[in-house]
Amino acid sequence: MTQSSNAPLRLAVLISGSGSNLQALIDHGQHQDAPFEVGLVISNRADAFGLERAARAGIPTRTLSHRGFETREAYDTALAELLHAADPGLIALAGFMRILTPGFVEQWQGRLLNIHPSLLPSYRGLHTHQRVLEAGDPVHGATVHFVTAELDGGPAILQARVPVLADDDPDRLAARVLEQEHRIYPLAARWFAEGRLALTTDGRTQLDGKPLDSPVIIDTTR
Ligand code: GRF
Repeated sequence: MTQSSNAPLRLAVLISGSGSNLQALIDHGQHQDAPFEVGLVISNRADAFGLERAARAGIPTRTLSHRGFETREAYDTALAELLHAADPGLIALAGFMRILTPGFVEQWQGRLLNIHPSLLPSYRGLHTHQRVLEAGDPVHGATVHFVTAELDGGPAILQARVPVLADDDPDRLAARVLEQEHRIYPLAARWFAEGRLALTTDGRTQLDGKPLDSPVIIDTTR
């Protein structure tokens, strides 16, 4: 995946499931003049529907099952080998249900993005929609962030805020959040590919040369 200077930035996308965020990245990357394209999809599950999405778009896929690896480190070493061979400009975690080891994350620091279905730093971890409903929060959302060794803890880039409605259940709320995820992930990838977005050596997000003290917010609650 070595780049020539004006070729689109090649993304490797890591998935475990449906891959609707992957689809959004594929679709945006297929636009003429898009600054990035999805060049490789890796799944840790052979039955991930995202693999089918990639195949339909003619994108190479690899399945690297976590079964058979005795340690997280061993799995992450094999994953890193796959990625080094492809040499992507950016790695996007898109519903990749694995906790990555610090050694893996450090190798790709500044070139590793994740999308999380909450307004981080609130609701790290799983079952975010259910937890937001239980807490009675009026607003929920999603965050694109750089990945660091701390789970869901890296510096935020972009957030979408959505309203929580009176008759929401976790599925309805998840669907509203997911719709916004499909907007903000390709946008963040675009910024990165255009050279507008970076992680500084002191661990802060920088956009257009200026540190971001808080993420850029797309607010759909108003
Ligand atoms: C999304 O909600 C994403 O934020 C989270 O996992 C889900 C993946 O959905 N990390 P999909 O596979 O992209 O449809």
